[in-house]
Amino acid sequence: MPLKLQHAVKSTMLPALLDRYGRIFNYARIALNERCNLRCTYCMPEEGVDFQPPEKLLSKNEVSRLVRVLAAAGVNKIRFTGGEPTLRKDLPELIATSLHTPGVDQVFLTTNGLLLHRVADQLKRAGLTGLNISLDSLHADRFKKITRRAGLEQTLDNIKLALAKGFDSVKINVVVMRGFNDDEIKQFSELTRDNKVTVRFIEFMPFDAKQLWCEGDYLMRAKDIVAKLHGLYDGLMADKGSETEHHHYRIKGYQGAVAVIPAFTRSLCRNCNRIRITADGQLRNCLYSGTDYDLRGLMRRDASDEQLLFQIRAAVGAKAIDGVEARERSTSKIAVSRISMTQIGG
Ligand code: GTP
Ligand code: 5AD
Ligand code: SF4
Repeated sequence: MPLKLQHAVKSTMLPALLDRYGRIFNYARIALNERCNLRCTYCMPEEGVDFQPPEKLLSKNEVSRLVRVLAAAGVNKIRFTGGEPTLRKDLPELIATSLHTPGVDQVFLTTNGLLLHRVADQLKRAGLTGLNISLDSLHADRFKKITRRAGLEQTLDNIKLALAKGFDSVKINVVVMRGFNDDEIKQFSELTRDNKVTVRFIEFMPFDAKQLWCEGDYLMRAKDIVAKLHGLYDGLMADKGSETEHHHYRIKGYQGAVAVIPAFTRSLCRNCNRIRITADGQLRNCLYSGTDYDLRGLMRRDASDEQLLFQIRAAVGAKAIDGVEARERSTSKIAVSRISMTQIGG
């Protein structure tokens, strides 16, 4: 019976990935590339991005091996990110292989959605659990301004397509920028009226390849976004969302949900359950950490699974209490810094 099989797999599992604050890490975010078909101003410059050569990125087999090693230590949720993960040809295979890995229950994707019409069927067949699709404006001119490309209609069509394909979860990620799209909170929230979609409003974070970030200018804090939602809708019903969805609400009579992610305020850190692996195979124990734990190098030097897991446990054990402490530590000279989200995988 499936229940017994599940139990058998779980009972042979190694101890969970646990940090000194008692947090358990069951969620791995794995970046599959750094490249992207958009050029969001807060993420990359228009030109001259130093993408790493393909041989520096994890191969399909290396990604699958990491998934297997992580799953043996209790990681049951995988998210593939990028760059733009749909640009990777082996994405469906990676999803299917991950889902066949004992211990892995769910595999998600974070994508800008622009290429979804080309791969949605393959992703569905591979068993993908759900997608988070980034979309920062519902106005074509603003979409173009932020992404430096046209594509609003295609993205909207592809969100509809994702919903029609029946993935377990479809979410829209909206990075809120004061003075740019904070007047669209209502329009975005209205998408949840007739669609089983979660619209998530995300605080803008300081990862922008040294271009334009200035806290005072663009940041709209989670508490202000929440206040705005309360102002727009009477009787918002608070509900439990995912670990990043620190505030999660249902609007009366609406099919979907709205959520707010305090990515900059970092009030979500006590529930942190995730580790990140960059496209070039470096483990980061916090989005705000500046320290790389090299898994690619270990794998390419023929390390055993035990040695890999030892490094993964060391990284988890060294995790700061929150993203504020991680950021402070990352100013140390030995820290390796990555300043674009495309290099960290979100
Ligand atoms: P769910 O599994 O659906 O909750 O997705 P997620 O929120 O974990 O992943 P997604 O890739 O959609 O990320 C949404 C936003 O949350 C992005 O802006 C991320 O950079 C941000 N985010 C994700 N994880 C963390 C984190 O550990 N710390 C902070 N501060 N922000 C995060
Ligand atoms: N601040 C907040 N969110 C960001 N993302 C990318 N860069 C930033 C930033 N500087 C979001 C993307 C995507 C997710 C992976 O991270 O819009 O939805
Ligand atoms: Fe591409 Fe995402 Fe960066 Fe935009 S935020 S340029 S969609 S990787």
